[in-house]
Amino acid sequence: MLRDFPLRDLNTWGVGGTCISYDSPRTALEAEESVAEVIRNEEKLFIIGAGSNVLISDGHINAAVIHTERLDSVQPSREEFDKIIRIEAGAGVPVRKLLELSVNEGYEGLEFLTGIPGTLGGALWGNAGAAGHGFNGLIKEADAVDWNGRSFKIGEESFKWGYRTCPVDKSTVALITSCVIYLNSAPKEVIFSNIKKFASLKKDQPLGKKTSGCVFKNPPGMSAGRLLDECGCKGISVGGAVVSNSHANFIENVGDASSQDIYELCELCREIVLKLCGVELEYEINFLGTFKKN
Ligand code: EPU
Repeated sequence: MLRDFPLRDLNTWGVGGTCISYDSPRTALEAEESVAEVIRNEEKLFIIGAGSNVLISDGHINAAVIHTERLDSVQPSREEFDKIIRIEAGAGVPVRKLLELSVNEGYEGLEFLTGIPGTLGGALWGNAGAAGHGFNGLIKEADAVDWNGRSFKIGEESFKWGYRTCPVDKSTVALITSCVIYLNSAPKEVIFSNIKKFASLKKDQPLGKKTSGCVFKNPPGMSAGRLLDECGCKGISVGGAVVSNSHANFIENVGDASSQDIYELCELCREIVLKLCGVELEYEINFLGTFKKN
């Protein structure tokens, strides 16, 4: 457990201050100990994976951080004469790595992860997806640590899948440590064609820039990006934070944006859309720390 740990390098916006304590467990047992210590210290707990869907506030943050980076084991095993692959993977495994594995081995189902940054744990926690495809039906089981610092299994029947909502019960689950995924074999041409389809959906997204993916959820039947665009939000800025000119639901850190800059720009965008369209945008990103409201 490290104290006063800087979080700037642990998120894709490259912002944020320090947390009270930081731990990076390598096994489920170590994760249990990390959670138990946070509970003993009566600290607030925040889990970070790749930090690709979180805004971390500036200054000192009154929370303990557990980083899943080193929960990175991947164990594939073939079943039913190779028709199925079972992959047991740690929460800290980058989803890109799982996609690569499934493509190389010739199994379909994870193509929706094309162009999605982040880790398995983070992607599951926020139910990441594209064009209606996600982990629903693929993840059969997860290992987690509860709020008493004890490991337990979550069966498929307990997952509740919804658009960009956490499928597990946050009041019971402190941390997901690993998941079991099942995929079916498929011809490589089919897998590659699916990947092409998902990649084309992202052609307007500012990949490679310092962003945190889409900032807002899509309101039912609408695209938050289109609404923001139609309201003239592209290009508006606060400090070093700018609404992307390629896709208005992305905010880029183009210089030395502070976390507060990004927050104020997000809030400004929400106000504009509320005023011009009467739609209240809901955040897709998570927040760690506190932000000043203007
Ligand atoms: N559009 C605009 N202007 C913009 C952005 C979009 O006019 O600035 C239009 C597009 O031309 C398109 C429509 O709005 O006609 C929808 O846009 P897009 O296809 O980019 O999809 P989206 O609804 O904005 C969603 C997910 C993305 C995911 C893509 C592709 C959410 C909030 N966003 O975006 O997910 O990559 O579909 O499947 O659900 C994320 O969750 O972080 C994310 C990036």
